[in-house]
Formats: sequence, C-alpha cells, structure tokens
Amino acid sequence: MCGIVGYTGKSNALPILLEGLKKLEYRGYDSAGVALLENVKEGNQRGRLHLLKEKGEILNLEKKIRSVYPSWFKNEDKVKFEAGVAHTRWATHGVPSEINAHPHMDCSKSMAVVHNGIIENHAKLRKDLEEEGHRFISDTDTEVVVHLFEKYYAEEKVRWKEDKYSEYDFLHAVAKKTVEEIEGSYALVFLISEHPGVLVAARYRSPLVVGLGDEDIFIASDVSPLLAYTRDTIFLEDGDIVVASKNDLKIWDGSGAEVKREVLRTEWDVSSAEKGGYKHFMLKEIFEQRLVVHEAIGLKLNEFDDKIYDSFIKEIEKFEIIACGTSYHAGLVGKYFLEKVADVPVHVYHASEYRYSPRVGHRGLAIAISQSGETADTIAAIEAAKKFGHRTLAITNVLGSTITRMVDKTIYMVAGPEIGVAATKTFTNQLIVLYLLGMRTALLNGEISPDHYREMVREIRELPRCVEFVLNRSEEIRGIAERYASYNNMLFIGRNIHYPVALEGALKLKEISYIHAEGYPSGELKHGPIALLSEETPTVAVVVRDHTYEKTISNIGEVVARNSPVVIVAEEGDEEVEMYSDDIIRIPKISSYFSPVPASIALQLFAYYIADVRGCEIDKPRNLAKSVTVE
Ligand code: M6R
Repeated sequence: MCGIVGYTGKSNALPILLEGLKKLEYRGYDSAGVALLENVKEGNQRGRLHLLKEKGEILNLEKKIRSVYPSWFKNEDKVKFEAGVAHTRWATHGVPSEINAHPHMDCSKSMAVVHNGIIENHAKLRKDLEEEGHRFISDTDTEVVVHLFEKYYAEEKVRWKEDKYSEYDFLHAVAKKTVEEIEGSYALVFLISEHPGVLVAARYRSPLVVGLGDEDIFIASDVSPLLAYTRDTIFLEDGDIVVASKNDLKIWDGSGAEVKREVLRTEWDVSSAEKGGYKHFMLKEIFEQRLVVHEAIGLKLNEFDDKIYDSFIKEIEKFEIIACGTSYHAGLVGKYFLEKVADVPVHVYHASEYRYSPRVGHRGLAIAISQSGETADTIAAIEAAKKFGHRTLAITNVLGSTITRMVDKTIYMVAGPEIGVAATKTFTNQLIVLYLLGMRTALLNGEISPDHYREMVREIRELPRCVEFVLNRSEEIRGIAERYASYNNMLFIGRNIHYPVALEGALKLKEISYIHAEGYPSGELKHGPIALLSEETPTVAVVVRDHTYEKTISNIGEVVARNSPVVIVAEEGDEEVEMYSDDIIRIPKISSYFSPVPASIALQLFAYYIADVRGCEIDKPRNLAKSVTVE
C-alpha cells in the first residue's frame, strides 16, 4: 500500500502535493517523491519535467526540495507548476531507497508515473521490455508501467497524428493498452511533458478518488489530500481510466466506453478519510483482506513458480520457525501444514525462548516470521540461529527492515502497512506465504505430484472468495459479539490446524477488549481448564468437517455439559453443530488446510466488535506497541 496524489489546476502544484502526501503518510513512509511539470513555452511547447525523490519520510523530501530549490517555496503564490504527481511509498519490490522511490520515468525522461498496488507479472514484462531496448534503473515492479506507457505512446502517436482524433482519446488509448498488459492491482497517475496540465489515471483493485475543485482536479488514494480544497468527489471503479485537465475530465470504463460517474459530496474529515470511513484502522485492515489475500496469492505463487526460493527449501531436513505473538501462531499453522503436506519436521519456537534450546549438530532452515521485521526477540533468535549454523529465511511485511538485512533470504508478505496494533491482515498473509512455501517444498521433495500441486493451487485461489464470505457476514458477527461483550473470561478451543486459530482468536480478544481469554487444543480441556467452565465463562470452538470433527464435537459436548455458553465457528451446511451451540459463526467450505484463514478472520471480527461495544481503545490497546523493540 502506498499513497498517491496528482494535481492539475490553477494553483501551484508543489505545496498542494506535499501537503497531500503528508495526509497520506499513514499508507507508507519509507520514501517519497514528486514529479512536477513546469509550464515552459519553449520550442514545441513541451512542459519541463522535474523529478525529486528522497528516502525516508515526506519531511525529508520537503527538506531536500527546500535546500535544492529554495526559490520554489519563496514564491508560493506564483503559479510555477501547473501539474504534478507525488507518492509516499511502502516498499513491495526493491528496498526503500531514493532510486526505488516513485515517481518512475520512461527512457526519454518525458513521462512519470506513480503507482499503488502490485504488478504481478512485472518480471516477464521487464524482460520483454529490456529486450525491446528499454533501460530500467530501479528494482521496482512499477517501472515496467511507465516503459509500457512509453512504448504504446510512441505507437499510438503515429496513428493519432495521422487520424487527428482528440488528445484525450489518444491518451486513453495509450493508457488502455498499457493496463491491458498488467496483471495485479494498480492505481496509477501519469504526467506527460508533451501534455502539460493533463493527468492520466487508471484504477484496478487499488483505490483512486478524483476531487473536483474550481478549475482544479485532484486524483488521490483517498479523499484526505483534497478535503482542504473540495468535497466533490468521484470514486473510480475497477477498470476506469481518466484523462483530466483543470477544465475537463473524461472517464472510460474497463470496456472502453466513456462513462459519467456520480459526483459524491464527502462529509469525511481527515481522520475518517485515513481510515477509509471505518471507525478504526483495525476494522479497515480486516476488510482490506479482501484485496491483500488475493494480491499475496497471485504474487507469491509467481515467485515460487519462478523458483526464487527453491534453493532455500529443497532437501531441507528440518525447519525451525521463530516468531512472537500472532506471528508465532501463524508459524504453528505452518507447522501443521508443512509436516502434513511436505513431510518435513517443523519446530516452532517463541523467539524469546529459542536461544535456550540446545541443539547438537542440526543444520536446517530457520524461518523468522515477523510483521515488522524489527521485533527484538526475533532478531536475537535469528542471531542465535546463525550461530547454530542454520541458513536463515525471513517472512516479513517490511522490506528493508532489520531482519531482512540479517537473513539469507526474505519472503515479503505484501499486506501493506498495518497501523492497528492488533495484527490482522498480516497474520492472514503470513499464512498464505507459509501455505505456498509448504506446497512448493512438498513438490520439490516429491511428496506431492505436479497434478496434486495444481489442485492445491486451485484450492488456495478459492481463499479470496472465502474471505469475502466472512466479511459479508460482519453484521451477523457483530450481533453475536454484542451478546458476549460483558463476560470477563472466555476459552477458545480447536484441534489440529485449528488449535493455533483458537490461540490467535484468544490473543485478539484479550489484547483489544481486555477480556481474559485462553486458547487450548480441544482435547486438552479435560486435563484442567474444564474446571474454569460455568455459565459465566463462554467457550468459542472452531470446528470443520475433517478427520478431527467427531472428536472436537465430543469436546464441545463436554463444554455444553458444564453450562458454558458456546459459540461455534463452523462450516456452512454443518447442521450437527446446531444442537451444541448458542451461536454459530459460519465460514465457507474449503479444504481444512486453508480454513484457518476464514476462521481467523471471523474471530478477528468477533474480537473487534466485542472491544468496540466495550468502548476500548482498539487501535492502541494499553501497554502494547506495534513493534516490540526490546527483549
Ligand atoms: O512484528 P512482529 O510480527 O514480529 O510482532 C510480533 C508480535 O509482537 C505481534 O504479532 C503481536 O502479538 C500482535 N500485535 C498481536 O496482535
């Protein structure tokens, strides 16, 4: 997730873009950049394109521009730049650096693009474009887009000159050909020196909103950069392409037909705009799983199919997973999956305990799972793993974070920035990475056939539908959560691969609602925790129709017999659970390997709504930090 903003109009673009970026900083902050068109009436009337980028937060970019071009700020009243595009980055491809910061330019340095999203087929596109003579300078996926635009611009320009159709139709044709080549998600805004004052934009699965001012057009990732200037907005739809100048705006839909989109008057303030209208970042991030799960599956499958990680996982005799908190729970799901599918032993360690584990002459692969890549316990454990002689791999959300600089290889989970302290979408994407890693390991080690692998790929591609299924039932889950918000204790149970789901459900609830909650393997209840059960202590059980079903149902029967109110997370169509439950949260049917994804999302919503009813500080729970940098 990155933040993008474009402006064209009667005012000076520079301060508008810099202020706009600051409003979007919550979307990413590892580097920032701006491309500005100076309207010089020279030669054949091209604008002069200026590009400025800097690593780090937006203030660094502003300081750089102020020191290199102090005069640009002295004359803020003077219209110096009539159009520009700007970007604040959250790295997905290529480390945070000035070179990898957006905007990116074509070979001739006459067009610039900013992008939010992920281009899944960037490696192939880049190879093809390089063979055609395009020169790349960054490691990003985005740079292919501007080279594609350059290519089709040149091709289409010949036709345009001959046929003399309108400038807007011409630019639409170029943008359409460009996006037709792209697989993945994108919000794009282009600035082209031959067309001063014109912005070209396109959207697919990444948000883009147009602000309509008085002789001004704004195009941004959300409404926060434009609220100071206008409240009239158009939310673009998937497939839309826009060509805009201060006096004119045209929109075409994915089929190429010109369309009129409804102008909405937004009532949001900046804070609700940052949260996309959701009450909390946590809720927004739960709902973002609609997109990030889809993106992660597409992108990571490509990477595994491109053999990027093969040398790290092939013929490994033992995996050691090291993580804390939610990431540890993801590791446990990974263990059940890897051991079953790839038949490799997997040990999962709390990172803070790892260094105390004696090991004699074991050489395996140590996998650090960390959303932030900065957790001190996990960093210390990776240091220990290296001393133990292991090769090291990180699964993280933050490119360039400390852990990525320590390990031999990193798999990036592409969830976008997570602001809420409670991990939600990053947990889900950790699972996706671990599933794909397990599938690839199994294939490489001959544990599954290519046909079986393809069948699993087909199944994992069902997950976005499953995510949607749960999110579409959020109101039902809210209703159930409201009935459980006043309890002080809760138990969560699950068996096999759903045991870590129970652990994670309990962690989510306790950290944001302050209700005491514990997760147990369902079979373990009778060995002690069952003493806690009464009508004052509800139990949340996760049960799917796999080989553990009958046993888990018996465990739930034991709970019911102790008068504990029971919420069951169960598959649609499972009627048997009805006689054991006070409430049922439905999840869709999918292979039980993958059902931890919809089940965990259901429990994220359950915890969120309980905490909301209790009026808790959901995004910043007491005593917690997003990234724990002390041991
Ligand atoms: O950044 P990390 O994944 O290394 O963080 C580990 C834990 O601190 C983290 O998962 C924590 O448990 C979550 N915020 C809980 O929601």
